[in-house]
Amino acid sequence: MEKLLNWVDARFPLTATWKAHLSEYYAPKNFNFWYYFGSLAILVLVIQIVTGIFLTMNYKPDASQAFASVEYIMRDVPYGWLIRYAHSTGASAFFIVVYLHMFRAMLYGSHRKPRELIWIFGVLIYLVLMAEAFMGYLLPWGQMSYWGAQVIVNLFAAVPFIGEDLSIWIRGDYVVSDATLNRFFAFHVIALPLVLLGLIAAHIVALHEVGSNNPDGVEIKKKKDEQGRPLDGIPFHPYYTVKDILGVVVFLIVFSAIVFFAPEMNGYFLEANNFIPADPLKTPEHIAPVWYFTPYYAILRAIPPMFGSQFPGVLAMGVAVLIFFLLPWLDRSPVKSIRYRGPYFKIALTLFVIAFIGLGWLGILPATELYTWIARVLTVVYFAFFLLMPWYTKHDAHKQEPERVTAK
Ligand code: HEM
Repeated sequence: MEKLLNWVDARFPLTATWKAHLSEYYAPKNFNFWYYFGSLAILVLVIQIVTGIFLTMNYKPDASQAFASVEYIMRDVPYGWLIRYAHSTGASAFFIVVYLHMFRAMLYGSHRKPRELIWIFGVLIYLVLMAEAFMGYLLPWGQMSYWGAQVIVNLFAAVPFIGEDLSIWIRGDYVVSDATLNRFFAFHVIALPLVLLGLIAAHIVALHEVGSNNPDGVEIKKKKDEQGRPLDGIPFHPYYTVKDILGVVVFLIVFSAIVFFAPEMNGYFLEANNFIPADPLKTPEHIAPVWYFTPYYAILRAIPPMFGSQFPGVLAMGVAVLIFFLLPWLDRSPVKSIRYRGPYFKIALTLFVIAFIGLGWLGILPATELYTWIARVLTVVYFAFFLLMPWYTKHDAHKQEPERVTAK
């Protein structure tokens, strides 16, 4: 074995890569619960790719066969039901994991200097993930697939001047049709996963260049021993590989419980209307996207049309997502971690979480007058969190950051 390894190492940096990224990659010793979600995001990605490959073997991207091919997978293909439910549950799991992963960054200031690029790659991943989920949702060709896509693609028609042409260009037709299904399939199974993989590689390369942040927001590279190893760092392998395996086991227990006992999750993961084949002549009474899009959907519906155009709502929805890019520059606090920040930031972050979850909830409900007004208030809170950030982070009280991490 050693001879074989030497042979490989003389031709390919196998041992060097193992050392640089695992056995001699020093991570802060105080990682906590919130640091499970990066490795879990990789796990969910693998689940989605593997189950996706097997689904593709039996799925037909054809408007006249798509719905039936999914039923065939569910009923006739051996373990097809398991593969399909793992993939549909995986989509929701991806967003749960990614939302918690992003929230961790906001808690500990992981988006701050010198990690701005890790954050930017992260937000790009988030955008691509949303496109991936949206296009995947059309493939079963159920009523919600069809009408959800119809509503969202029609939003592009609200863009001034080029809107009409843009929406026709996206669909490849005047309505969502077989041409749309074919191109969404191509994007969902190959184009976007490739982009996603590239972005994730860049995300991790950038992370390993600067090193991980931690719950104290202290830079461990500032204090090193004679060998140049961070005093507060421990080798990623075996310490964090073992920790992450615990996360994987707990995650898989919860994931399996959902796949086996509640794959529809009461309509939140798989909507009842999507068990009805797409019918271009029959609009469902109530069209709502899957839960992970509903905060933005609520923002869209909260903004009233102007001069008969839906564009202001569409713009607000787009800005609500894109504004995440600016976070590293909006935050002016002298400390990174919430542990050492003052009350303004803590209150702002709490209100933001309430607004995000509240909007998500309202996005599922019908847009009654009362709900629309609540959504308007929460939309203001959502944007205020970002737009007032330079002010409240600058004037907030803060505690002195410790010199070293405070692991027990
Ligand atoms: C497929 C999706 C993603 C994967 C596979 C992924 C993977 C990872 C991994 C493995 C880590 C290191 C472990 C950890 O800190 O938990 C990490 C760190 C990080 N990720 Fe992601 N990530 C994803 C999405 C995102 C998104 C959407 C954002 C933000 C918008 C983001 C922002 C960050 C930041 C700021 C760090 C550094 C955290 C720190 O050092 O404290 N990631 N990511």
